[in-house]
Amino acid sequence: MENFIINTPTVLHFGQVVIQGLGKTLAKYGKNVLFIYGKGSIKSNGIYQQVINQLNLFDLQYVEYHGIKANPIIEDVDKAAKLGKRNNVDVILAVGGGSVIDTAKIVSIAIPVKNPAWDFFEAKVKPEKSIPLITVLTFAGTGTEMNSFAVSQNLQTKQKLGYGNDLIYPKHSFLDPKYTFSVPKDQTAYGIVDLIAHSLEAFFGGGEATLSDRFVYSIIKEAIDYGPDLLNNLENYELRAKIMYAATAALNKLTFYGRSSTDWGVHSIGHVLSLLYDLPHGATLSIAYPAWLKLFENRIPERIIEMGENLFGVKTTKETISGLESFFKSLNCPLKLSETGIEYDKNIILKTMKLNKVNGFTHKISVEDYDKIIEFLE
Ligand code: NZQ
Ligand code: ZN
Repeated sequence: MENFIINTPTVLHFGQVVIQGLGKTLAKYGKNVLFIYGKGSIKSNGIYQQVINQLNLFDLQYVEYHGIKANPIIEDVDKAAKLGKRNNVDVILAVGGGSVIDTAKIVSIAIPVKNPAWDFFEAKVKPEKSIPLITVLTFAGTGTEMNSFAVSQNLQTKQKLGYGNDLIYPKHSFLDPKYTFSVPKDQTAYGIVDLIAHSLEAFFGGGEATLSDRFVYSIIKEAIDYGPDLLNNLENYELRAKIMYAATAALNKLTFYGRSSTDWGVHSIGHVLSLLYDLPHGATLSIAYPAWLKLFENRIPERIIEMGENLFGVKTTKETISGLESFFKSLNCPLKLSETGIEYDKNIILKTMKLNKVNGFTHKISVEDYDKIIEFLE
């Protein structure tokens, strides 16, 4: 087992009506709030009003930046940071899913610097401080509510990149499973795929860490046992709660400890597909994971079989891959690009894979592998 440090500084408030603690928590960080949210789901499901009530209860001043799109773009980070600077905000409040929270994370380090936000992704600037970030999660999947990662797209350079820094951990995150009741069936399924993918990206990392492997199996089993039920009972609190907690646990680093590395090759492929075709993140992963497994089937058969034995009780790589495919299919998620209805162009995918340097940290994907991957994606 490798050495590790556990330091997850996010205070997680999980359960019914946790929103009641929001105003008091924000007030600890100051009076001026930058309130960031997405395209409007929080207005139609009533969450917006509950947040405003909390702000009013503690006499907090706020400016709003909204309209963050799914698969967020760096322009919104720069615009929101400008608004935050102009209003001298003390604290950032992000209410939404991964796209909103990731945007707010980068805003939190962009406000204190003069550089454009993309400079962080290109390592041209290193943050030295951040504006405190508080989140209210409305979508279970990414795990961003309790980690130090953020993802953004630069449509000019045609890149979708991840960024990691301990300064972007949210200070507090509020998770009420009820807030996810209004997430539509297909999006709920994409969140379930995402949490499975995060668990597996850790599992396919380097080194031996048996307890972390067992965490991976347990998290994925929650998804397998309760995910399909949830899709037929979107307003079932217990099922929403199980999936929400599983998603947090899948990417708050619990599954990382003791490993020498994690992988992220599948996410690297998925990011190219959402960048090019604006596919939902989870839908890119239900296509990319089986493709990645097919590429590595003969390179790491033992590890793939270990996954299959523990998750599906099977004994071969083929059965493992089809076990995962059948589960994704049972959630009605696409397994192939051809099932998404988009008109894709193989040459553009190849070019964008090269530009984004698609690769894993542990299991290397060479440029020569790209053609094979595209074949598996089709
Ligand atoms: O814009 P709004 O109106 O909020 O609508 C959103 C959006 O259309 C909607 N939604 C969110 N909560 C809802 C709701 N609709 C009804 N009721 C609710 N309660 O759902 C749609 C998708 O939201 P989005 O935030 O895009 O989804 P998700 O949480 O999957 O985030 C995806 C982004 O996170 C990145 C992905 O790459 C992608 O850009 N990731 C971030 C990670 C991280 N920071 O650790 C790790 C992940 O692997 C991932 O890469
Ligand atoms: Zn993901």
